[in-house]
Amino acid sequence: ALITLRQLLDHAAENDYGVPAFNINNMEQGLAIMKAAEKANAPVIMQASRGARAYAGDVMLAHIIRALAEMYPAIPLCMHQDHGNNEQTCLSAIKHGFTSVMMDGSLEADMKTPADWDYNVDITKKVAQMAHWVGASVEGELGVLGSLETGEAAEEDGSGASGKLSEDQLLTDPDEAAEFVKLTQVDALAIACGTSHGAYKFSKKPTGETLAIKRIEEIHAKIPNVHLVMHGSSSVPQYLQDLINEYGGEMPQTYGVPVEEIERGIKSGVRKVNIDTDNRMAITGTWRKIAKDMPKEFDPRKFMIPAMEAMEEVCLDRFERFGTAGNA
Ligand code: G3H
Ligand code: 13P
Ligand code: NA
Ligand code: ZN
Repeated sequence: ALITLRQLLDHAAENDYGVPAFNINNMEQGLAIMKAAEKANAPVIMQASRGARAYAGDVMLAHIIRALAEMYPAIPLCMHQDHGNNEQTCLSAIKHGFTSVMMDGSLEADMKTPADWDYNVDITKKVAQMAHWVGASVEGELGVLGSLETGEAAEEDGSGASGKLSEDQLLTDPDEAAEFVKLTQVDALAIACGTSHGAYKFSKKPTGETLAIKRIEEIHAKIPNVHLVMHGSSSVPQYLQDLINEYGGEMPQTYGVPVEEIERGIKSGVRKVNIDTDNRMAITGTWRKIAKDMPKEFDPRKFMIPAMEAMEEVCLDRFERFGTAGNA
């Protein structure tokens, strides 16, 4: 059944678990998530970026989601707009059946330029008012995602701020977080703690200097009842880097967010954990292997089925490690 983000995260907070929010662009990713959720008996957050909506088309995406809800009636399913850039994006998502939207006012509508406080408060508050009228939930973001190592957002997929960011921008301030939630009435708050989108988050295993889980603990101490969201939370596991590189890929060595650091965040109020890159790597790494191992193969299903299984394995692992399993 379709549920809102607020319903799901309230349950997660009461029962001390986190929920992975997996990005979806197509039927195969949707099936992989739901199969893992069924095995784990876990509630689901599926999220679509603006890019995903353009890729599949709003009507197609809306029907895929409804089909998945119908195929898995026992799994609570929240359908969320990832990184909405303005009111129009959020409203059209709701119109197409999304039960939750992110109004990302940490950046201006170009999704490149860090926004100021007033812009972020005004647009997020406006979206929250509109969404709440129709029963949809809203996630806001305070702070800009980017690397504490370099002061820059990871740029390889273009999703995030451009240019140099100050440490002030890269780490959400606890007092400002409290004020922001009070003014906007968001249901969940995405915070910045040194993570960034894409595969190239850290040049070595992150430390307390480059991945500030401590900052999450400070925010949680200030606003214990607010559901926190961690973006850029792929772990970029070594086995997937190796799979890709063993079969013709050329990904430079990189480090993601270790799952044990996310587990620490979940102990401090993190309830939604955004993951896209790990699933992308599981899918395309598997494709590369099949293309190499079975050069005569041209039936796309022979590529898609193992790719879905590889993604399902990633999803199942996160449901188990985040404590989502058993809560559907
Ligand atoms: O925000 C980043 C997500 O990984 C979605 O990426 O905009 O390329 O679909 P995308
Ligand atoms: P990753 O690139 O780390 O998977 O993050 C995804 C994300 O934050 C989507 O909003
Ligand atoms: Na989001
Ligand atoms: Zn994100």
